[in-house]
Amino acid sequence: MLEIYFTKQKRTIEAKEGETIREAAIKGKISIYPHVFKILNCRGRGHCHSCAIEIVSGTTNPKNEIENQQLTKKLIKKPNLRLACQVRVSDNMVIKTHV
Ligand code: FES
Repeated sequence: MLEIYFTKQKRTIEAKEGETIREAAIKGKISIYPHVFKILNCRGRGHCHSCAIEIVSGTTNPKNEIENQQLTKKLIKKPNLRLACQVRVSDNMVIKTHV
């Protein structure tokens, strides 16, 4: 089991290698979505970019095409941004949500 620490929530959850950060957060009862996007999100399909997170530490799979398309403008200011529904857990991580 791997661990993910969420800085805003000040909580650590366990995650299985290979699952997405979104899946791990839902299991750990941590909301990665801001405001109305808790209800209105694409359910992990990579279309809404409401699950944007900042990777503070931990190695991940490289950004995929969906992330590069969805985060183009935001990536200029914050290059560590990722979509929680697209990042596979492969290491212990520290994550900032609602960015
Ligand atoms: S949940 Fe919509 S892009 Fe991740």
